[in-house]
Amino acid sequence: MEVLAFNLNNAKAIYRLDSSGMMTALGGLAGQCVDACWNLTAGIEPPPIEAISHIVVTGLGGSAIGGDLLRVYCHDKIPVPVTVNRHYTLPSFVGRDTLVFAVSYSGNTEETLSAYEDARRRESAIVVITSGGKLKEMALRDGVTLITIPGGIAPRAATGFLFIPTLRVMERLGFLPGMEGSIATMIDHLKELWEKLKPETPITENLAKQLAQKLFNRIPVIWGTSGSTEVVAQRWKGQINENTKAPAYWNVFPELNHNEIVGFQVPGELLKKLHLVMLRDEEDHPRVQKRIDITKEIIKDRVGGISEVYASGEGDLSRLYSLIYLGDCTSVYLAALYGVDPGPVKVIDRLKQELQSCGPVCGLP
Ligand code: F6R
Repeated sequence: MEVLAFNLNNAKAIYRLDSSGMMTALGGLAGQCVDACWNLTAGIEPPPIEAISHIVVTGLGGSAIGGDLLRVYCHDKIPVPVTVNRHYTLPSFVGRDTLVFAVSYSGNTEETLSAYEDARRRESAIVVITSGGKLKEMALRDGVTLITIPGGIAPRAATGFLFIPTLRVMERLGFLPGMEGSIATMIDHLKELWEKLKPETPITENLAKQLAQKLFNRIPVIWGTSGSTEVVAQRWKGQINENTKAPAYWNVFPELNHNEIVGFQVPGELLKKLHLVMLRDEEDHPRVQKRIDITKEIIKDRVGGISEVYASGEGDLSRLYSLIYLGDCTSVYLAALYGVDPGPVKVIDRLKQELQSCGPVCGLP
């Protein structure tokens, strides 16, 4: 039985450990979405484009996850594909008929700057979303559609600023009618959820704190579903990596039923260190829901534990974000249990600095 060194009922201690206000930013997520939906994008005109045959979101880390949210949200709603690009160059199909969202919170991520230049070369329609940096300078220089978002928080805590503007542009282009209403519904749900997930809510009533306790001293493995909670599983993994500074892994149904499920036989002792989180959405394909039930029965005695968490709220957007929010809060509580400050990501900073000292990417300022 592990001893929990940190008392998650001590809200003040949670805030004290959190030097860059990750939890405060989470508490401000609903307000961020309001700003992103009604202020930042108010006068935005989509770039002129005759016919769009593909949408690409190019970005990395916290700036890319909004692209994955868009991709999954659009999965059953629009007639053109959405692709997320996390590389220096764009896929070869990108051309004049492609709408490219170039997203970088800092505006200085070299892969995104390079992909932006690639989109310019291919004469794609471009929308830049950034708080500043070189990307903003380049967008102003080139006169492309620019959405400037507020700086000063960690990119991964800025999903409202990074994701909502893409929905608004898609709405204006006629792909996603009625977005304003769906976003408003989601914002109301986020407010309700915060009351349940915030540090002041005791462990007995706080699902994020309970999950953090289950994941403590375990390796989290997060399983979602293709085309819906897959982006949530990926986000939970990333948030546990960056906020908790711990390893985590993710996969999706039904694919994992065809390979990963076999890998729970050996080594027995280490498998007991895994804690599985199954992300569930009652709107998921009925056969997938059956698969999840059966899979749980097959492996329940092999791993340290299994938690099932359900999406809540009205509409696809609310349900998707309800699980994102739960994972974000869980990762910060898990950091607290380890006595870790969730904010700084020194390893990423070091890597970016060392790369910079090698000189700029060819063709970039
Ligand atoms: C840091 C974080 C990272 C960054 C990534 C790209 O909070 O979440 O994953 O998002 O290193 O940087 P930006 O977002 O500035 O382009």
